[in-house]
Formats: sequence, C-alpha cells, structure tokens
Amino acid sequence: MDLTIGSRDDLSIVESGYVFGRSWDQARQHRLLGEAYDQVTCARLASTGVSDGWRCLEAGAGGGSVAHWLAKQVAPSGSVTATDLDPGWVPPHPGLRVLRHDLALDPLPERAYDLIHVRLVLRHLPQRRAVLDKLAAALKPGGILQIDEFDQSHGPALLAPDQAALALYRDFVEAKERMFADAGVAGDWGRRVAAEMVDAGLTDVDPEPAIFPWQAGSPGVELLIFLTRRLRDGLVAAGMTDERLAGVRDLLRSPGFRATSGVFYTVQGRRP
Ligand SMILES: C[S@@+](CC[C@H](N)C(=O)[O-])C[C@H]1O[C@@H](n2cnc3c(N)ncnc32)[C@H](O)[C@@H]1O
Repeated sequence: MDLTIGSRDDLSIVESGYVFGRSWDQARQHRLLGEAYDQVTCARLASTGVSDGWRCLEAGAGGGSVAHWLAKQVAPSGSVTATDLDPGWVPPHPGLRVLRHDLALDPLPERAYDLIHVRLVLRHLPQRRAVLDKLAAALKPGGILQIDEFDQSHGPALLAPDQAALALYRDFVEAKERMFADAGVAGDWGRRVAAEMVDAGLTDVDPEPAIFPWQAGSPGVELLIFLTRRLRDGLVAAGMTDERLAGVRDLLRSPGFRATSGVFYTVQGRRP
C-alpha cells in the first residue's frame, strides 16, 4: 500500500503554523537549501545502497531536488513519493509521485518504504516525536530512515570588520532563534534526533555531524541574506530594525566576514 492523495486543501498550510508560511519567493529558498545541503544529504543517502527497485519517501520535499536524486537512483523499477504541505514546488520526474500531505496530521502507510528521508522539517512540527514514530512505522522491516537537521546552538562569526559587526551578527542570529522558538521551532533538534530514533525503536542509529565554513557567497550565507527579507516582520518583532537588518546584509556580503554554520546532522536508523 502507498499513500493516497490527502483530502486536505490549501488551508492546511495556514492551519499548520509553519513559520515560513507560503510565499512567491519560496522557490529561491528551496534552491538555496539544495545548493547548501544536497551534497552532504545525497552522499549520506548513497551510503544506504539505495538503487534500482527501492521504494522511497521524501517527506517535506520542498523544491524536490533530493526527491529527483532518489528517483534517478531507484530507476527503472523503483519508485519515489515526494510529499509536502505545499507540493507545488516539486517539478515532475519519471518514477516520482508528488502528493500534498501533512506530516503532522495525515496518516502514512505502514511497512511501505525501504528508505525515508526528511530534511529540516521535523524541527518545525511540535508533534515531532509522534511524527518520528509514524515515520518509523512506515519503514519496511530493515528499511532506513534518514533525518537531516540542524543544531543551531553553536554557530559564531569568526571574522568581521570590527567588534560592532560581530555584535550585530550575534544579535541577528539570536533574534532569528528567538523568533523560531516562539513559533515552536526546535533549534536544537539536530542533536536530539539520534536519541529520539533509538527511543522510537530504530537500531544501528548513526549520527554524522557536518559543519560548513561560511563566507560571502556561500549558499548558507545567501540563505541568511534571503531570510533577513523573508522573515523581516518576525525579526523586527524580535528586536531587529530595518537599518540593522540592512547592516547584517552588508556584513554577510563583506569579504572580511567568516563564520561557522550550526551543526548539520545526518542521522540514519534502521527498522529491526
Ligand atoms: C525548510 S523547508 C525544507 C524543504 C526540504 N526538505 C529541503 O531540505 O530542501 C521545510 C519544508 O517542510 C514543509 N512542511 C512544513 N510543515 C509541514 C507538514 N506539517 N507536513 C509536510 N510538510 C511540511 C514546508 O512546506 C517546506 O517545504
């Protein structure tokens, strides 16, 4: 059995309280996420041996770049289902089914998939622990779940033109995390995933941390610049001003800026 198209309509995006909501420039956010993290994500997925004939689920698929990569691996006889609250950003691809599905509220078929991948989604869902149980139950015995998530509790600027710029970056990052926390986002979920997977009954749980060097032009830094505009209202409510956000953009574009990303964990676990 596989997923059937859910009956929930577009309102589910509003109801869900998803912090980014829906926006015309979502495509840019998805493209930047792919540029920043697909290399690490897909290398880790490749280590599972995913190949012809596998049945895969890419949940919260965003722009669909990982779903497309999976569809290529499992061709010609496998299949990939890509789901999202807002699935319209996933382009079609042979062997790929794209469905609207609310991971928090809609059911998943049990014992259905050889491989399930979810990146930067569960942090947004207050029901993340129950969703993890649902994902584990959707694996075939022996199937693998890979969850990719950030732990944002460490990610300092290392070089900036002056002390004021360092303080500005710190204030911006803190405002962003405060805003996310107020919206129910778990900024430290990345470091909790492995233990939660064990708790959910998965075995061979294997977390791999990655840290990215950030400087002007890095996809992760382009994403931050994008977020200064996309999340402008929330950031101002969290204490930033338009002038200070413009200063953050100048800093992030400056050749003298260097930082480390938060820790990006790819965590795999197997259903016994
Ligand atoms: C930060 S984006 C990550 C997208 C993609 N996984 C990636 O890493 O490129 C979060 C995605 O989760 C989706 N999402 C948020 N809440 C969801 C829910 N309750 N059920 C399914 N998808 C959800 C959003 O629509 C968005 O595409």
